[in-house]
Amino acid sequence: ELELMLGGKFGKAGNQVVIEEYLKGIELSVFALTDGRSYKILGSAKDYKRIGEGDMGLNTGGMGAVSPVPFANEEFNRKVEERVVRPTIEGLQKDGIDYKGFVFFGLMNVGGDPYVIEYNVRMGDPETEVVMPRLKTDILSLIEAMAKGYPGDYEKGKEITGVPDVKGSIVFHAGTKLADGKVVTNGGRVIAVSSFGKTMREALAQSYENVAKIHFDGMNFRRDIGFDL
Ligand code: GLY
Repeated sequence: ELELMLGGKFGKAGNQVVIEEYLKGIELSVFALTDGRSYKILGSAKDYKRIGEGDMGLNTGGMGAVSPVPFANEEFNRKVEERVVRPTIEGLQKDGIDYKGFVFFGLMNVGGDPYVIEYNVRMGDPETEVVMPRLKTDILSLIEAMAKGYPGDYEKGKEITGVPDVKGSIVFHAGTKLADGKVVTNGGRVIAVSSFGKTMREALAQSYENVAKIHFDGMNFRRDIGFDL
Protein backbone atom coordinates (compact mmCIF):
# COMPACT_ATOMS: atom_id res chain seq x y z
CA GLU A 1 0.00 0.00 0.00
CA LEU A 2 2.76 2.40 0.94
CA GLU A 3 4.66 1.51 -2.20
CA LEU A 4 1.60 2.38 -4.27
CA MET A 5 1.18 5.70 -2.44
CA LEU A 6 4.77 6.59 -3.23
CA GLY A 7 4.38 5.72 -6.90
CA GLY A 8 6.08 2.37 -6.68
CA LYS A 9 9.38 3.93 -5.66
CA PHE A 10 9.51 2.71 -2.08
CA GLY A 11 12.78 1.05 -1.24
CA LYS A 12 14.81 2.56 -4.07
CA ALA A 13 17.86 4.65 -3.15
CA GLY A 14 16.84 8.16 -2.21
CA ASN A 15 13.20 7.23 -1.85
CA GLN A 16 13.21 5.56 1.48
CA VAL A 17 10.76 6.31 4.21
CA VAL A 18 11.59 5.88 7.86
CA ILE A 19 8.60 4.89 9.94
CA GLU A 20 8.93 5.56 13.66
CA GLU A 21 6.71 4.61 16.52
CA TYR A 22 3.96 7.15 17.16
CA LEU A 23 4.33 8.49 20.67
CA LYS A 24 1.22 9.77 22.37
CA GLY A 25 1.80 11.56 25.63
CA ILE A 26 3.05 14.73 27.25
CA GLU A 27 6.45 16.16 26.41
CA LEU A 28 8.96 17.16 29.04
CA SER A 29 12.66 17.84 29.24
CA VAL A 30 15.26 16.56 31.66
CA PHE A 31 18.63 18.27 32.02
CA ALA A 32 21.95 16.83 33.09
CA LEU A 33 25.50 18.03 33.40
CA THR A 34 28.25 15.54 32.60
CA ASP A 35 32.01 15.35 32.56
CA GLY A 36 31.68 12.44 30.12
CA ARG A 37 31.88 9.83 32.86
CA SER A 38 29.68 10.87 35.74
CA TYR A 39 26.62 13.08 35.61
CA LYS A 40 24.30 15.15 37.74
CA ILE A 41 20.64 15.41 36.83
CA LEU A 42 19.65 19.04 37.26
CA GLY A 43 15.89 18.65 37.00
CA SER A 44 12.89 18.34 34.75
CA ALA A 45 10.88 21.06 33.02
CA LYS A 46 8.04 21.42 30.58
CA ASP A 47 7.87 24.35 28.21
CA TYR A 48 4.85 25.71 26.37
CA LYS A 49 5.70 26.42 22.77
CA ARG A 50 2.54 27.81 21.15
CA ILE A 51 2.11 31.56 21.21
CA GLY A 52 -1.53 31.48 22.28
CA GLU A 53 -3.26 30.22 25.41
CA GLY A 54 -4.74 26.77 25.15
CA ASP A 55 -1.75 25.82 22.98
CA MET A 56 -3.10 27.79 20.05
CA GLY A 57 -1.22 29.58 17.30
CA LEU A 58 2.29 29.47 16.00
CA ASN A 59 5.18 27.60 17.51
CA THR A 60 7.78 29.60 19.44
CA GLY A 61 10.96 28.60 21.25
CA GLY A 62 8.85 28.57 24.41
CA MET A 63 6.44 31.05 25.99
CA GLY A 64 6.99 29.78 29.52
CA ALA A 65 7.99 26.73 31.51
CA VAL A 66 7.45 24.93 34.80
CA SER A 67 9.79 22.87 36.94
CA PRO A 68 9.52 20.29 38.39
CA VAL A 69 7.03 18.59 36.12
CA PRO A 70 4.27 17.22 38.39
CA PHE A 71 3.98 13.83 36.67
CA ALA A 72 7.76 13.33 36.80
CA ASN A 73 7.47 11.58 40.13
CA GLU A 74 10.11 9.45 41.82
CA GLU A 75 9.27 6.35 39.77
CA PHE A 76 9.25 8.21 36.46
CA ASN A 77 12.53 9.95 37.32
CA ARG A 78 14.10 6.61 38.19
CA LYS A 79 13.10 5.27 34.78
CA VAL A 80 14.53 8.37 33.11
CA GLU A 81 17.83 7.87 34.89
CA GLU A 82 18.06 4.10 34.37
CA ARG A 83 16.71 3.91 30.81
CA VAL A 84 17.85 7.19 29.33
CA VAL A 85 20.44 9.23 31.21
CA ARG A 86 22.82 6.49 32.32
CA PRO A 87 22.77 4.58 29.00
CA THR A 88 23.38 7.86 27.16
CA ILE A 89 26.49 8.68 29.18
CA GLU A 90 27.71 5.09 28.86
CA GLY A 91 27.01 5.31 25.12
CA LEU A 92 29.19 8.41 24.83
CA GLN A 93 32.04 6.52 26.47
CA LYS A 94 31.49 3.44 24.32
CA ASP A 95 31.58 5.54 21.15
CA GLY A 96 34.69 7.38 22.32
CA ILE A 97 32.89 10.73 22.41
CA ASP A 98 34.61 13.05 24.85
CA TYR A 99 31.72 15.29 25.80
CA LYS A 100 31.63 17.60 28.78
CA GLY A 101 28.63 19.83 29.23
CA PHE A 102 24.87 20.01 29.42
CA VAL A 103 22.65 17.33 27.96
CA PHE A 104 19.05 18.20 27.21
CA PHE A 105 16.88 15.09 27.03
CA GLY A 106 13.69 15.84 25.13
CA LEU A 107 11.28 13.17 26.34
CA MET A 108 7.71 12.00 25.94
CA ASN A 109 5.86 10.47 28.86
CA VAL A 110 3.95 7.61 27.24
CA GLY A 111 1.76 6.05 29.90
CA GLY A 112 4.41 6.48 32.59
CA ASP A 113 7.36 5.43 30.44
CA PRO A 114 9.93 7.94 29.15
CA TYR A 115 10.75 7.89 25.43
CA VAL A 116 13.52 10.02 23.90
CA ILE A 117 12.45 12.42 21.18
CA GLU A 118 15.61 14.45 20.88
CA TYR A 119 18.91 15.35 22.46
CA ASN A 120 20.41 18.81 22.61
CA VAL A 121 23.87 19.69 23.86
CA ARG A 122 22.77 22.78 25.76
CA MET A 123 20.20 23.85 28.30
CA GLY A 124 16.80 25.01 27.07
CA ASP A 125 15.13 28.39 27.02
CA PRO A 126 12.86 29.09 28.92
CA GLU A 127 13.57 25.82 30.77
CA THR A 128 16.87 27.16 32.15
CA GLU A 129 15.03 29.94 33.91
CA VAL A 130 12.95 27.47 35.93
CA VAL A 131 15.56 24.74 36.47
CA MET A 132 18.47 26.92 37.62
CA PRO A 133 16.62 28.71 40.46
CA ARG A 134 15.72 25.30 41.95
CA LEU A 135 19.32 24.10 42.19
CA LYS A 136 20.56 23.85 45.74
CA THR A 137 24.16 23.61 44.54
CA ASP A 138 26.00 26.55 43.03
CA ILE A 139 26.00 25.92 39.26
CA LEU A 140 29.53 27.32 38.99
CA SER A 141 30.94 24.70 41.33
CA LEU A 142 29.18 22.01 39.29
CA ILE A 143 30.65 23.38 36.07
CA GLU A 144 34.06 23.68 37.67
CA ALA A 145 33.81 20.11 38.92
CA MET A 146 32.79 18.94 35.46
CA ALA A 147 35.71 20.72 33.80
CA LYS A 148 38.23 19.36 36.30
CA GLY A 149 36.86 15.87 36.41
CA TYR A 150 36.00 15.98 40.07
CA PRO A 151 34.17 15.48 42.39
CA GLY A 152 32.80 13.06 39.81
CA ASP A 153 34.55 9.79 39.17
CA TYR A 154 38.18 9.85 38.23
CA GLU A 155 40.62 7.03 38.07
CA LYS A 156 42.95 6.56 40.99
CA GLY A 157 46.05 4.49 41.49
CA LYS A 158 47.85 5.60 38.31
CA GLU A 159 51.62 5.57 38.73
CA ILE A 160 53.21 9.02 38.64
CA THR A 161 56.67 9.15 37.08
CA GLY A 162 59.18 11.92 36.55
CA VAL A 163 58.87 13.78 39.84
CA PRO A 164 62.54 13.10 40.78
CA ASP A 165 63.60 14.74 37.48
CA VAL A 166 62.01 18.05 38.44
CA LYS A 167 64.64 20.77 38.99
CA GLY A 168 64.04 24.30 40.21
CA SER A 169 60.37 23.93 41.09
CA ILE A 170 58.45 22.78 44.12
CA VAL A 171 56.21 19.76 43.58
CA PHE A 172 53.23 19.82 45.93
CA HIS A 173 51.51 16.48 46.30
CA ALA A 174 47.76 16.84 46.72
CA GLY A 175 45.92 13.84 45.26
CA THR A 176 48.74 11.33 45.56
CA LYS A 177 49.69 8.45 47.82
CA LEU A 178 52.36 5.83 48.21
CA ALA A 179 51.37 2.35 47.13
CA ASP A 180 53.93 -0.46 47.14
CA GLY A 181 56.74 2.09 47.12
CA LYS A 182 55.32 3.94 44.10
CA VAL A 183 53.70 7.37 44.02
CA VAL A 184 50.23 6.97 42.52
CA THR A 185 47.28 9.26 41.85
CA ASN A 186 44.66 9.45 44.56
CA GLY A 187 42.54 12.49 43.80
CA GLY A 188 41.22 14.98 41.27
CA ARG A 189 43.90 17.63 41.71
CA VAL A 190 46.97 15.48 41.76
CA ILE A 191 50.03 17.73 41.83
CA ALA A 192 50.90 21.44 41.79
CA VAL A 193 54.25 22.58 40.37
CA SER A 194 55.30 25.97 41.76
CA SER A 195 58.26 28.08 40.67
CA PHE A 196 59.91 31.42 41.41
CA GLY A 197 61.07 33.72 38.64
CA LYS A 198 62.22 37.30 38.17
CA THR A 199 59.11 37.72 36.07
CA MET A 200 55.85 35.83 36.06
CA ARG A 201 56.66 34.49 32.58
CA GLU A 202 59.97 33.15 33.76
CA ALA A 203 58.31 31.39 36.69
CA LEU A 204 55.62 29.96 34.44
CA ALA A 205 58.18 28.75 31.92
CA GLN A 206 60.04 26.99 34.72
CA SER A 207 56.87 25.28 35.97
CA TYR A 208 55.82 24.18 32.51
CA GLU A 209 59.30 22.83 31.77
CA ASN A 210 59.02 20.66 34.87
CA VAL A 211 55.40 19.69 34.30
CA ALA A 212 56.57 18.17 31.01
CA LYS A 213 58.74 15.74 32.96
CA ILE A 214 55.82 14.37 34.99
CA HIS A 215 53.55 11.68 33.60
CA PHE A 216 50.58 9.58 34.62
CA ASP A 217 47.58 8.13 32.81
CA GLY A 218 44.80 10.67 32.44
CA MET A 219 47.07 13.61 33.32
CA ASN A 220 45.46 16.92 32.44
CA PHE A 221 46.66 20.46 33.00
CA ARG A 222 46.01 23.91 31.62
CA ARG A 223 48.66 25.42 29.39
CA ASP A 224 47.41 28.98 29.70
CA ILE A 225 47.81 29.78 33.37
CA GLY A 226 48.78 33.45 33.79
CA PHE A 227 48.95 34.15 30.06
CA ASP A 228 46.01 36.53 30.10
CA LEU A 229 47.79 38.86 32.53
N1 GLY B 1 12.48 25.51 24.76
C1 GLY B 1 12.97 24.57 23.88
C2 GLY B 1 14.42 24.59 23.65
O1 GLY B 1 15.15 25.32 24.28
O2 GLY B 1 14.84 23.84 22.79
